[in-house]
Formats: sequence, structure tokens, C-alpha cells
Amino acid sequence: MDDLTSYATPVEYQDIEYSLVLNAIKLRYGHDFDAYAQKSLKRRLEHHVEKHGFNGLSEMIKPIIYNEDFFEDLLNTVSVPVTEMFRDPEFFRTLREKILPLLKTYPSVNIWHAGCATGEEVYSMAIMLEEEGLYDNCNIYATDFNSGSLAHAKQGVYSFSRMQKYTENYYLAGGKRSFSDYYDSHENGIKINEKLIRNITFAKHNLANDSVFGQFNLILCRNVLIYFGKQLQDKVFSLFHESTLSLGYLCLGSHESLNYNNTLMRYDTVFDKYKIYRKRQ
Ligand SMILES: C[S@@+](CC[C@H](N)C(=O)[O-])C[C@H]1O[C@@H](n2cnc3c(N)ncnc32)[C@H](O)[C@@H]1O
Repeated sequence: MDDLTSYATPVEYQDIEYSLVLNAIKLRYGHDFDAYAQKSLKRRLEHHVEKHGFNGLSEMIKPIIYNEDFFEDLLNTVSVPVTEMFRDPEFFRTLREKILPLLKTYPSVNIWHAGCATGEEVYSMAIMLEEEGLYDNCNIYATDFNSGSLAHAKQGVYSFSRMQKYTENYYLAGGKRSFSDYYDSHENGIKINEKLIRNITFAKHNLANDSVFGQFNLILCRNVLIYFGKQLQDKVFSLFHESTLSLGYLCLGSHESLNYNNTLMRYDTVFDKYKIYRKRQ
């Protein structure tokens, strides 16, 4: 008689729990994490398990399904909304000195920040555009799939504790005025001037599922693709290619690159060090 009992290794049991968690998220909220870089995603989910004192990944399934606040918090862990103003100041300086003068010759400029997190990157850009005399000619779209981050971004309120670092970054990025000209004090820290928020549209957009929604002269998607698997990266590169006007620019994060993707054939590398590419005509 066959022994019908089969045993899996502890690792295999964990893999089953992991798949069930991803499936619960997909079925309940529509976010498909299958195409993300799995090793780091798993590590972040396990971190959440520890934080809540759960006894394994599958204990999260019920709160994921029934408790939206729990899921919002989990999404913050897995989506890594880490950002700062003028992050990689040299990148911003290069944009300011080499790319903005060219964009200034256009009658209007469309810009998309994909994966904008809590908005610091898009406000850095708005400040630079204002100083270079382009802000009034720009339509800026800032998108993310994390509604909590977008709500924070729209408010433009940031903690005092970050201001010293942001001020240093601003000057390293070629800032021309006093950084404090761009915000007012607020009970929870500082609030970005309304004038800078005016031309920015914040909207929910999921790079994994949603499609083209405009044609842009400049797309920034920095420190987002690093969390995606190769197939999803390729899909997003195609989305960006379709969304970029001829001779438009694409900017990636310092650890990201078009290099191993056939999309590279359709771009010229403008500044390899700063991951700035230009779509061919
Ligand atoms: C590390 S932050 C980068 C923020 C900013 N671009 C920067 O470089 O400072 C990554 C952001 O990508 C967003 N993200 C991750 N997956 C996404 C997806 N499928 N669609 C849209 N945004 C996504 C996260 O919510 C997070 O806000």
C-alpha cells in the first residue's frame, strides 16, 4: 500500500505561506507582487511578521483581508516609500544645467514623476523649474500606487528634522536662493508653498497594471524599478517608451539602468553616470 503522507521541508512550507499572502493581496486589493524582485519582497514581508509578533507569514492573511489599515501599513513596508528632497544632488544639478535650458525653448513641458512616494522629489523639481523660469510652462504629474504616500505628497508637509539635510542637498544641487523661501512653518513641521503645488497633479497609477495616460518630455522614475523583477522592468520600460515624446528624456535611479534591456536601442545615453537617457527620433 502506498504511503499517501508527504512531507515538505520547512522552506517549502514557508514558500506556500508566502504564495498565499501574495495571492490574498492580489485578490483583495488588486496589487500583483508576483513580478517584483522576490528575495527582497520576502524579506520585507518577514520583517512585517516580526514587527507584529506573528507566528509565520500566513498569520497575516486574515488581517490583510479584513483590516484595510493593516494592509496600508503593510504596503508601506513592502513599497519602500523612502525618499528625500534633491536626492543625489549631482543628478539634480545635471538636470538643471544640461537639460532644463533645452526644455526652456519648448512652448510647454510635460513631466511625469512615476513612483513619487511622499512627494519630495517632485517638489525638488518644482523648485528648480521655478528658479530656471520654467515652472509656469510645465504640467507636472506625480503618481504612485500607494494612496497613503500620495495623500502625504499632496499635503506637502514635512518634518523639521529633515530640513538640514534637504537644505544641504538643495545647495549641492545648485540652489540659487534661500531654501526656506519655498516653505512656511506648519504645526507638524514645514509646508511647501501653495505656489509650487499649483501645477502638480497627484494621481494613483500602478506601473504594473495601468497604461499610458499622457505624452511627456521628461519622465523620472528613480529608485522604483530596483524592486521589480526583470519581466516587470521590461514592461515598464515599454510603458515609458510609449509615454515619451520624440527626443524626450527618461531619468532612472543611480542603481538602475536601461543597459540590459532592448529598450536601450531606442534611447541615447545622455549622462550614463546620472542615468539620463533620451528617446531617439
Ligand atoms: C524608494 S521610493 C522612490 C521615491 C522617489 N522616486 C525617489 O527616488 O526618491 C519607491 C516608490 O515606488 C512606488 N512603487 C512601487 N511599486 C509601484 C508600482 N507598481 N506602481 C507605482 N508606484 C510603485 C512605491 O510606492 C514608492 O513610493
